[in-house]
Amino acid sequence: MTDQLRPDGTLRHLITLEGLSRDWMERLLERSQSFVRPLGARPPVSHALAGRTVANLFTEPSTRTRVSFELAAKRLGAHVVNLEVQLSSRIKGESMLDTVYTLQALHVDAMVIRDAEAGVPAAVAANVAPHVSVLSAGEAHLSHPTQGLLDALTVRQHRKRLDSLSIAIVGDIRHSRVARSDYHVFRALGCPDLRIVAPPALMPAAEEFAGCSRHTSLKTGLKDVDVVMMLRIQKERMGQADLPDADRYFAKYGLTPERLAGARPDAIVMHPQPMNRGIEISSDVADGPQSVIRDQVRNGVAVRMAVLEEVLVAGTGAG
Ligand code: NCD
Repeated sequence: MTDQLRPDGTLRHLITLEGLSRDWMERLLERSQSFVRPLGARPPVSHALAGRTVANLFTEPSTRTRVSFELAAKRLGAHVVNLEVQLSSRIKGESMLDTVYTLQALHVDAMVIRDAEAGVPAAVAANVAPHVSVLSAGEAHLSHPTQGLLDALTVRQHRKRLDSLSIAIVGDIRHSRVARSDYHVFRALGCPDLRIVAPPALMPAAEEFAGCSRHTSLKTGLKDVDVVMMLRIQKERMGQADLPDADRYFAKYGLTPERLAGARPDAIVMHPQPMNRGIEISSDVADGPQSVIRDQVRNGVAVRMAVLEEVLVAGTGAG
């Protein structure tokens, strides 16, 4: 894969969290925290990216991620263009390169990419000019680095340190890029008890998620955890035959107040959204006092501001 780091150790692209150091992540989260404001307060704005241009290239549906990248760039003073292009149709072919060179000719400095096909962000990164950065906004089932970072920021706001926490990631782990990025950041930040909870058919391959305990029972998976991260069933990444029946899934794996009672009394509940209420989570829990799901959305803008600043301006050393 194209190296994410510049020769001087600063971050140029953000394609995966795998391999980034704990120090770098902690600094990035500190910086992100400085951009967080309470609801109702004015968000911070700066001119740090004045004259720079960020292009959003999303070929899969997105609401929160696209809007928050756009707001993050604008709040730092950048110009933003949103494009709908089919990059992956010919990853190595001319159409992808034409798009990349066209954007470069338009003085785009950062390309934010979401695509269902594995390898697209790295393929673009391998072809851009040296001053251009590529940020993944979701790559197939593999990686969603800014979501991982905003999830870690949300946990830290409620629990300070991750190195004494029990965290359960619950649901369609097999097809989830969020689970994979969460895994990398939670492990790097020292989470000692990381559990994945899923029906056997939605468990990842045995060689993935090393160091996590695996639970097919929601009850044992949630026992005494501090954080519950619920995931959506990724219908778009499985065939019709593999789709679990919604009612049966909710009966066994849906998060209800009764089931949440098996976690620590002060446990927080997270979900990257979009949520399927009544399938993986009940509305009582999604809107209840332990839910920090809206904090995750707010934190998404802060993390993306810190990442854009990091690749386009600061470069604090990622090695
Ligand atoms: C997630 C995604 O696209 O991977 N959404 C998001 O970015 N918040 C999760 C999902 O689609 O289930």
